Parts: sequence; C-alpha cells; structure tokens
Amino acid sequence: MSVWHIRGGRSLYGSVEVQGSKNAVLPIIAASLLTPGESELIRCPRLSDVAAAVDILRSLGCAAGQDGDTLRVDTRGLSRCEISRELMHRMRSSVIFLGPLLSRCGEAHVYVPGGCEIGPRPIDLHLHAMRCLGAEVQEEDGGIVCRAGKLRGAEISLSMPSVGATENAMIAACAAEGPTVIYNAAREPEIRALQEYLRLLGAEISGAGTPVVRVTGFVPRSHAIMHIPSDRIAAATYLCCAASAGGDVELEGTDPASVETILRALGEMGCRIRVGNGTLRLTAKPPLRAPESVVTRPYPGFPTDAAPLLMAVCARCRGSTVFIENIFESRYRHAEQLRRLGADIEIHGSLALVRGVETLRGAKVESPDLRGGAALITAALAAEGETMIRDQGHIRRGYDAPERVLRSLGAEIWTEE
Ligand code: EPZ
Repeated sequence: MSVWHIRGGRSLYGSVEVQGSKNAVLPIIAASLLTPGESELIRCPRLSDVAAAVDILRSLGCAAGQDGDTLRVDTRGLSRCEISRELMHRMRSSVIFLGPLLSRCGEAHVYVPGGCEIGPRPIDLHLHAMRCLGAEVQEEDGGIVCRAGKLRGAEISLSMPSVGATENAMIAACAAEGPTVIYNAAREPEIRALQEYLRLLGAEISGAGTPVVRVTGFVPRSHAIMHIPSDRIAAATYLCCAASAGGDVELEGTDPASVETILRALGEMGCRIRVGNGTLRLTAKPPLRAPESVVTRPYPGFPTDAAPLLMAVCARCRGSTVFIENIFESRYRHAEQLRRLGADIEIHGSLALVRGVETLRGAKVESPDLRGGAALITAALAAEGETMIRDQGHIRRGYDAPERVLRSLGAEIWTEE
C-alpha cells in the first residue's frame, strides 16, 4: 500500500522525457523466449509489471536483469515450460507468454490470468489462435495446457482485434512450419514494435499496423538490440496533467501520431499544441471547453487507457462531455473517486456523463486501477488543497517514477510507501 499526496493549484512548466512503453516491452520480453539468445531492450521502463515479467523469465530458467533503462535478457537457460499460478496472477498480461513458450518448448502450462479491476480478461481468442496453429489446448480449473508437436502455419481470423491475441499469434507463428496470416489483427503501435523485434530475431513478418499480419519465415538469430518506443499512454497522461493544472509543458521522444486522438481532443478543448522535431508542447489556461463526446475504440480510435485521464480534465471544463466505453466493462471505477473531489459524473452502463464544475477540492480517495489512479493524480493537480490517494501498487505497474516527472514540472507531489 502506498499513499500519494498532491497539493493542487500549481501550473506545470518544463520539459520531460517520456518513459518507454509498458505495453510494447511486455510482449517483447515474452517473445525473447522464441530463440536461445541474448536481447538488450533499451529504454525499458522501471515498472512492477516489468519486474513481474522478469520474474517469470527467471522462473523458467532464463537470466534477466535491468540496469538503468536497459533490460538484458538471456534465454539460453530455458529449462521449464510451466508458469506458476502466483506469477500468472501478478500481471494480467502474463498470458502473452503462452505463444512463446509453446513455440520454444512444444508445450506450455499457464493459468488464466483472471479478471482484473477493469473487467474480465477472457483469453478465448488467444486459445483460438493456438488451435489454428495446430496446438491441442486443455483447460482444467483455471489451468491451461497447450501441446504441439510442430506448429503449422495457418489462416487465423480474430473475431475482435485483440491486442494480446494478435501478439500471441504473431510470436507463435514464427515457430510454425509454413506461412501464417492473421486477419482482423490489432493495429496498435505496440504491434508494430513487436514486429520490429521479431524481425531482429530473424522473422520474416509484415503488415503490423494493418488488419492483416503475415509471417512467412523465421531464421533465428541469437542477439538483438531493440529500442523500446515511447509510452503513448504515459505521454497522454502528462499531457492531461498539463491540461488539468494549466501551464506550458513539453514532452520529448513521443511520436505525435501515437497520441493523435488525444491531441485532437485537447486542441478542441482550447489547449495550444505545437509539434516539434521529436517534441510535443502543450499550453493550457483552465478552464477549458468540454469536448462533446469521447468514444473509445480499438486503435486508431480513442484509446480506452487514455479515457480516464481525459475524464479527469473534463471534470473541471466549461460544459458537459459524454464518454462511451467500448472496450472494457469496468472502466469507470475512478468516477466515484473523482466525485469525492467534487466532480459531477453520472454513469449509465458504458456511458458516463461528465458535467464540468468550477472547482475541485482535495480529498481522501482510493486508486481503483492503473489508469484510474493516474486520473486521480491528474484531477488532484487541479484541486484546491491536498489530495491523498491510497494505492495498492496499481500506479507503479505502469508509470516509471511519475512523482519525479511531475515534481520536475513544478507539481507538489510526494509519496509514503
Ligand atoms: C492490451 O490489453 C493492453 N495491455 C491494455 O492496456 C489495453 O487497454 C488493451 O490492450 C486495449 O487496447 C497490454 O498491452 C499489456 P485486448 P489486452 O485483448 O491485450 C476482449 C493498460 O492500462 N478479449 O485488446 O488484454 C477483452 O475482454 C492496459 O496498460 C476477449 O474477449 O486487450 C476486452 O474487452 C489495460 N477475448 C477486449 O477484447 C480474448 O481472448 C480488448 O482486449 C482477448 C480479449
């Protein structure tokens, strides 16, 4: 348990480098199992989810360690193909190890990662992809055993563009005999990052970022050096913090295209946005104008992970905003906590109506999940007085020292572990 303290009412000024992407590095760490060798992942964020992925690698007999923002992985020592229930439950996206393990060992024993704070996390599409590639899949009391003498290339159609299922299919297809095509693949930037890494490992793979990904060959290499792209949701978070508190903030190292929908919304709300050479600058003077609606969709639509952050900004805008959540079932658990700060939010199923108020006031709140916790920090920066956020480790799953980043921009924020 940790408690985050924020004294609001101060505008933010300055320039920060955005951390490497959690949702890019996690599947890449898993994919390193594909072949015995060494990988260096540069600009790897220091997160508890990364630590959990490293613990999974070590439990399988591999070596892994982070030195600053470089993670080194050596998968030559792989000696097991089972991941314990405890390790699987520490990180929701641990199912991403299924495809790599099956590819390398011919079998994989994992556990259903289980639902989490934002809703059930089914893995039927992941298992469908493994079956298409020729694996036998048995499920018993939450455990999953996949076996495949030899994976065979196939045509895999996903009923929805699941990020994780696309990633598992891409990785497993590398070890399959013959070509694989994945239809209705997820198009997130993290899919392109995984394709880049798989190419470094020796895969012939193309189409990432489009709905059709093709894997046509794999000649394993034993060494890869990968630069992890910037975390687009962390970038969206700091942009929303600047919009919420007001000020003039510049982000370094973020690809503007990866946050295009957030930039468009913040621009409509009255923020001034300047895109430079590898930099993004936002100037805001609250109160801003409320956007009419925010509808979350698979990429390139508005990302579900950024909706809580924008909702925190809308809480203090002039006017009302309708949010429609189309990805997860329980994405609004932060709304009740924002109300404690004075926000006016009504929830009706997947719809949230936010009526902007003039003033938010500091209060004691509880962080419900990773992006909900970040939304509470975002709102607290604009609230009068002090806010205390009790957090069960959610925030540090996805943000690398956010208090240091925000303090460097002039925020009054500190934590008690
Ligand atoms: C990834 O989760 C991200 N996590 C999530 O970020 C992100 O919100 C999500 O993609 C959507 O963009 C990582 O990349 C580690 P999905 P993932 O499979 O892969 C349903 C964060 O805050 N579904 O695209 O789990 C599922 O229930 C996290 O950083 C099935 O029905 O997302 C959900 O409704 C949160 N069957 C929808 O698809 C399946 O087999 C999207 O899930 C798989 C998913």
